[in-house]
Amino acid sequence: MSEISGIKACVFDAYGTLFDVNAAAAHLKGELGDKEAKLAEIWRLKQLQYSWLRTLMEGCYVEFWQVTQDGLDFAMEAVGLKDDALRQKLLDLYWKLDSYPEVPAMLQALKDGGLKTAILSNGSPAMLDGAVQSSGIGDRLDAVLSVDGHRFYKPRPQIYAMVTDHFKISPQEVCFMSSNGWDAAAAAFFGFQVCWVNRTGQPQERLPGEPKKILKDLSQLPPLLGL
Ligand code: LAC
Repeated sequence: MSEISGIKACVFDAYGTLFDVNAAAAHLKGELGDKEAKLAEIWRLKQLQYSWLRTLMEGCYVEFWQVTQDGLDFAMEAVGLKDDALRQKLLDLYWKLDSYPEVPAMLQALKDGGLKTAILSNGSPAMLDGAVQSSGIGDRLDAVLSVDGHRFYKPRPQIYAMVTDHFKISPQEVCFMSSNGWDAAAAAFFGFQVCWVNRTGQPQERLPGEPKKILKDLSQLPPLLGL
C-alpha cells in the first residue's frame, strides 16, 4: 500500500468511526439478553439502507435522526421486541454515544501536529452536536460538517466535496477515515487519501476506490502521519 503524504486536514466519518454505534445496545445488554448483537446489527444496516434508498428515491430526504428511529423500529420488530420504554432508552443512548477510547488523544495529536480536523457525517447537526458534546471532543475539531444542508446522503460526491469547499484544499490534501468500507471506497474514488478503520475484520467492499491504509483503530493514525 502506498504512503500517505501532503495532508492538510484529517476528516472523520462519525458513526462507527469516532462514535461507538454498538454502545447503545451494549449498555442495555441486561434487558436485551441474547438479542443485543442481532438488534445492533440490523439497526445499523437498516439505518444505512434507508439513507441510501431515500437518496436514490429523490425528494424523500428525512434527517438522519428519523432514519435512525426507522431503522430501530424495523430491528426491534425483526428480533421480536415491542417495548416503547426500551425503544426510548436505546434512542437516548444513541443521542449521546461514547467515542472510542483512543479518539480524544488521537485528535489532540493531530491538532498538536498542525493539522485541521473535522467530522463529515450523515448525522443531522443536532445529533452530531449531542455526540460531540457528550464525548467532549468539540475543542479538538475545526469543523463538524453534516449532509443536512444538501438533503441527501453519502456516498454522493457532493457530500465529500463539502470538505474541499470548507477548507479550500484539494481532495489529495485530505486524509479521510471511515470504518464503513463503502464510505472508505467512495471517499477514495472522490480523490481523498483514505484510511479504512476496519475495527471488526470485515472483508473489503467490491467497489471502485481503494483505501491507502487499513487500520485496526484510530490510535494508528498519528504515527502513520509522522506525528
Ligand atoms: C456517518 C455514518 C455513515 O456518520 O456513519 O455518516
